[in-house]
Amino acid sequence: MCGIVGYVGLPDQPNRSHFALDVILEGLRRLEYRGYDSAGVAVVDGDSIGFRKRAGKVAALDEVLAVQPLPDSLVGIGHTRWATHGGPTDANAHPHVVDGGKLAVVHNGIVENYSELRKTLVARGYEFASETDTEVAATLLADHFNTDAAGDLTKAMQLTCQQLEGAFTLLAIHASAPDRIVAARRNSPLVIGLGENENFLGSDVSGFIDHTKQAVEMGNDQIVTITATDYEIIDFSGNPAEGSPFTVTWDAAAAEKEGFDSFMDKEIHDQPAAVRDTLLGRLDDEGHLVLDELRIDESVLRQVDKIVIVACGTAAYAGHVARYAIEHWCRIPCEVELAHEFRYRDPIVNEKTLVVALSQSGETMDTVMAVQHAREQGAKVVAICNTNGSSIPRESDACIYTHAGPEIAVASTKAFLAQITAAYLLGLYLAQLRGNKFSDEIRQILEELAAMPEKIQEVIDNEEQVKALGTEMANASSVLFLGRHVGYPVALEGALKLKEIAYIHAEGFAAGELKHGPIALVEEGQPVFVIVPSPNGRNQLHSKVVSNIQEIRARGAITLVIAEEGDTAVDEHANHVIRVPKAPTLMQPLLATVPLQIFACALATAKGYDVDKPRNLAKSVTVE
Ligand code: F6R
Repeated sequence: MCGIVGYVGLPDQPNRSHFALDVILEGLRRLEYRGYDSAGVAVVDGDSIGFRKRAGKVAALDEVLAVQPLPDSLVGIGHTRWATHGGPTDANAHPHVVDGGKLAVVHNGIVENYSELRKTLVARGYEFASETDTEVAATLLADHFNTDAAGDLTKAMQLTCQQLEGAFTLLAIHASAPDRIVAARRNSPLVIGLGENENFLGSDVSGFIDHTKQAVEMGNDQIVTITATDYEIIDFSGNPAEGSPFTVTWDAAAAEKEGFDSFMDKEIHDQPAAVRDTLLGRLDDEGHLVLDELRIDESVLRQVDKIVIVACGTAAYAGHVARYAIEHWCRIPCEVELAHEFRYRDPIVNEKTLVVALSQSGETMDTVMAVQHAREQGAKVVAICNTNGSSIPRESDACIYTHAGPEIAVASTKAFLAQITAAYLLGLYLAQLRGNKFSDEIRQILEELAAMPEKIQEVIDNEEQVKALGTEMANASSVLFLGRHVGYPVALEGALKLKEIAYIHAEGFAAGELKHGPIALVEEGQPVFVIVPSPNGRNQLHSKVVSNIQEIRARGAITLVIAEEGDTAVDEHANHVIRVPKAPTLMQPLLATVPLQIFACALATAKGYDVDKPRNLAKSVTVE
C-alpha cells in the first residue's frame, strides 16, 4: 500500500552528499514493493512549497522532475499512493498542497469521516481541488494552523487528529515552519530513522535504510515532530510519549535482487536462511526451548483451552499447516480463521483463548482489526511477524519475529516458510510448558526442524527440472493442486501463487474431496500437481493419494507429483515426479511448497509477466 518518506537535514553541512529530494526518491523506490499507482514529492522552497506529483510509477515522477526540477531543499516529504478515495490521477496523487501553497501533506490510510468534515469546511468557504480524504485532512490542518494552533504545526496536527476517524499516517511540512516535519499515526505504519544531523520518516525502514539503521518505533495515536537534530513524540492529547528505539539488522543489499532475475526468485532462494534464522537462539543451556519474546504469563498459557490463528492469504495457509502440528503436539483445539471473517462471525473468544496473528508485513488491516477484536474479548494475542516496528506486533501481547529479512516481491514465499517455522516453535513451546511432550521429544522435533534448511536447499538445487515444467506449461489455462493432511494447505498455497502472478485459473483441493466434485474438472491434458504424503507417515494416507493420482491420470490429467526420495509407488502413475528429501510428515510443507513457488515463478516469467509486481495487488494491504 502507500509508501511514505520524510527527510530533514541540517543546513550548512560541508561535503553534503544528498538533499531532501535525493533521499525521498531513493526511499520511494525502495518502498515501491508495497504497491502503488501514483507518486509525488514536496519540499520546502523558501516561503512556499515546491511539489511534483504524477499518476504512474516513480519513473514517471522522475521524468517530470527532469523537466521541472525542484530546488536543493533540506526538508521534504514523498509518497507513493494506492488509490482508495478517488482514482489514480495526477490531481488525486499526494502531496496535497493547501494554505496558499504553504502546507503540504501526504497520507496513508483512510479518513472515515472525511465527507462530514468536508461539508463543514465547504460551509466555511474552503474549496477542494481533489476528491480525496487527504485534502480534507490537509485543509483541516491548515485551518487549525492558522487559527487555534497559532502557527504551531505540532499543535495543529494534534487538533486535527482529534477530529479524524479511521486509520491514517499523516506527514506535513509548512513553509512557515521550515525546519521540521510533523507526522501522526493511528493504526497505520510510521517509523522514525535517526541519522547524524539528519532524521527520517518512513512507512517502514526500507524508506531510509540507505542512510541509517537506527530507528524508533512509534505507538498508536502519537505525533512526532522531527528536525535535523531531534525528535519529539506526543500523544493525540498533547502528553509527552516515548518511542521504542531499535536497530535494523539487515542492510540495503538485503533489499536488492543480488543478481537474481526477480525479487521473488531471490526470496525463494533465501528460504534456507529464512528458516535457519527463525530458529536461531531458541534453546537455553539445558536444551530447553525458550521464546524470550513471549511475554505472557506462563500460568495464562497453561490455562489456554483454545487457539485461534488469524491471518490472510498465504499467511492463513501457513496457519493451516501449523494447526496440524499444534493440535498434534499440544492437544489444544486450534482453529484457523481468515482475519477479515473473524470479528464479523462473533467468534467465541475469551481469556482462555490464545489468538495467534500471522503476518509478514505486520500491517494487514484485516489482521490488525482481528487482533484488536480478540483483545477486546479478553484473549491474549501472540503475533508471528516479519516486520519490526509494524502495527500487528505492537497491538499484540507478544510477538515471535520471523527472521526472513525483507520480503519485497508481492507474492509471499520465504515469509510462508518462516511463519510455519515460528508457529511450530510456538506449538512446541506450549507443549513443553503444558507437559504434553517430554524434553527429549521436543529436542528431537527441534533437531528435525534444524535439519530443514539443508533439505530446502536440496529442493532449490533441483530447480531446473521444475523451471522447465513451468516454462513448458506456460500456455496452460488451468492448473489444479491436490494434497492431504498438511499437504492440503500446501496445495492451496501452490494454487494461490499461480493465480496471483501468472493470472491463470488454479485451484487447490483436499485430495479426499476429489470424488465429491472436483474430479469433474479433469479432462485430457489438465495439469494437476499432487503432493504425496510420506509413505513413512500415516501409511493409509499415502496409498489413498496414490489412488487419487491413478484416478486423475485415467481421466487424462498430466500428473506432476511431488514425492519424497525413494517413494517409487508413485512412479508408474506420474507424468513427472519432483523429488523432495525425506522428512517427517509435519516438516514436509517446508519442502513441498518450494517446487510450487518455483513453478509459478517460471510459468509467469515465461508468460512475460513481472512476477514481483502482479497486477491489482499490493504487498501490504493496509485497508480493510
Ligand atoms: C500472497 C500474499 C498475500 C499475503 C496476505 C497477508 O502471496 O502475499 O496473500 O500473504 O496479504 O499478508 P501479511 O502476511 O503481510 O499479513
